[in-house]
Amino acid sequence: MIVAIDGGVATGKSAVGRRVAEALGLPFVDTGLMYRAVALAALERRIDVADGAALTALAHGLKVTTEGRRVWLDGEEVTDRVYEPRISEVVSRVAKIAGVRLAMVAQQRAVARGGVVMAGRDIGTVVFPDADHKFFLTASVDERVRRRAAQLAARGEVADTDAMATEVTARDRMDSQRTVAPLRAAEDALVVDTDAFDLEGVVAEVLRRVRG
Ligand code: DC
Repeated sequence: MIVAIDGGVATGKSAVGRRVAEALGLPFVDTGLMYRAVALAALERRIDVADGAALTALAHGLKVTTEGRRVWLDGEEVTDRVYEPRISEVVSRVAKIAGVRLAMVAQQRAVARGGVVMAGRDIGTVVFPDADHKFFLTASVDERVRRRAAQLAARGEVADTDAMATEVTARDRMDSQRTVAPLRAAEDALVVDTDAFDLEGVVAEVLRRVRG
């Protein structure tokens, strides 16, 4: 069984996907981690993120593996580095390159053979157009910033909410406007507006649909 969960920045895709996968006894793959890992490799190897040919060659030579929230680049764990602000700043520019996407989509399809819950931007439209179940999560910018700020506060960190709102909006705009596999709901996806639900509520709604 393949369950696709797409949506914009910080709409709860991974939190929801992880719990849904656990309930269904399937692996969970957060494809955002994979694009972040490619962006990290580009920065560390000083590849210009405007150089599509170099990024394509890079992505085709990398093995990106994930497990839950963890991610490895050619066997080296890079989980701690992929959420650095310098990665969030450039990841959309890396992810819009067609060759980078081809390389990642091939790896995504290969890991999904035994069934999967997969989260991203183009899972229901491009990676698995025939997925058994497709969901597209939405949330207002205010709500997404509020959730992120609460996560940071739980870790004792203070959030710059204006900067967060700017990043969420800018990244979604870039991901929606690219020509290859833009962020959008598949025609047969169930759009879930999560503003009115907490995490458990969204998980329950997704599981209710999947279990029919
Ligand atoms: O889910 P995230 O915010 O960690 O994803 C980081 C970036 O990766 C996102 O801004 C766009 C890109 N991405 C993508 O293009 N396609 C996917 N399936 C997943 C993520």
